[in-house]
Amino acid sequence: MSWQQRLLPWEASDGAARTDAIFIFLLIFSILIILLVLSLIVGLSVRYRRGSPAPRKKLPEAISREWEIGWTSATFFIALFMFWWAGATELHFWRIPKGALEIHVIGKQWMWKIQHPSGASEIDTLHAPAGVPVKLVITSRDVIHSFYIPAFRLKRDAVPGRYNEAWFQATRPGQYALYCSEFCGLDHSAMHGQVVILSAADYAAWANAQPQGDSLAAQGREKFVALGCAGCHATGSQVRAPKLEGLYGQPVPLSDGRVVTADEGYLRDSILLPRKDIVASYDPVMPSYQGAATEEDINALIAYLKSIGPAGSSP
Ligand code: CUA
Repeated sequence: MSWQQRLLPWEASDGAARTDAIFIFLLIFSILIILLVLSLIVGLSVRYRRGSPAPRKKLPEAISREWEIGWTSATFFIALFMFWWAGATELHFWRIPKGALEIHVIGKQWMWKIQHPSGASEIDTLHAPAGVPVKLVITSRDVIHSFYIPAFRLKRDAVPGRYNEAWFQATRPGQYALYCSEFCGLDHSAMHGQVVILSAADYAAWANAQPQGDSLAAQGREKFVALGCAGCHATGSQVRAPKLEGLYGQPVPLSDGRVVTADEGYLRDSILLPRKDIVASYDPVMPSYQGAATEEDINALIAYLKSIGPAGSSP
């Protein structure tokens, strides 16, 4: 065990090493400043104690002005450097790599439900491959929770009604702790689990071995039919409803003049709160699926909508 592992939780992701580098730099820098200030306080107190023969003349003007400019600009540039370093690292965590494996996380009192793109789902355990970027789309079914993996230095709130995103790239296979870090009721302290990082090949084998045969997108297509979405949104339907093929990621002009992007949050709101954003030139006839569609259903529906490209291609 290295000195670093005695000091901090195990580092198991690319982000953990970046976060720790900043932390250790700040820690050492702060210790040096404390030692400097402390030794000045002690040294000067002894030197200028009452009755000591030390000279008490004022410093010459010229020296003190150079000192002032010197230490002010030195601290300014150190602060600027720390801001740049921490800011660049934070931006790196917000920029989710394209093509990352997408895993859905749903917090509820008091468990974590995980949905994989393969259709597999699990509770309080997150299986993920090492060495590839994994994107988490996090929401909650009831109150605010917070999804926390100390070994990855990753923490993101699970907020009901919205999707928060985070990503990580695990560096080594193993088992790591998973916690809820937002007080969420009676059993908050029991809302923990584990992250199991497998090699890419083992992850594929694990996902294939899960009982759910259908991919999340295929489950979504079934829901699309079962909930009656297809009745209006299918081509050739009697009701005039917006086309959904190739919609994901596209700009959508609304009846009130705004233009929004059809991201996960928009699709979710359109299913649950259809009156919120009415697509330009369409009538507000869509009913809300609040209560009819669960968080899991909505994740599947969105996976399906993302999978259907233009020209009615199917997953
Ligand atoms: Cu969920 Cu605390």
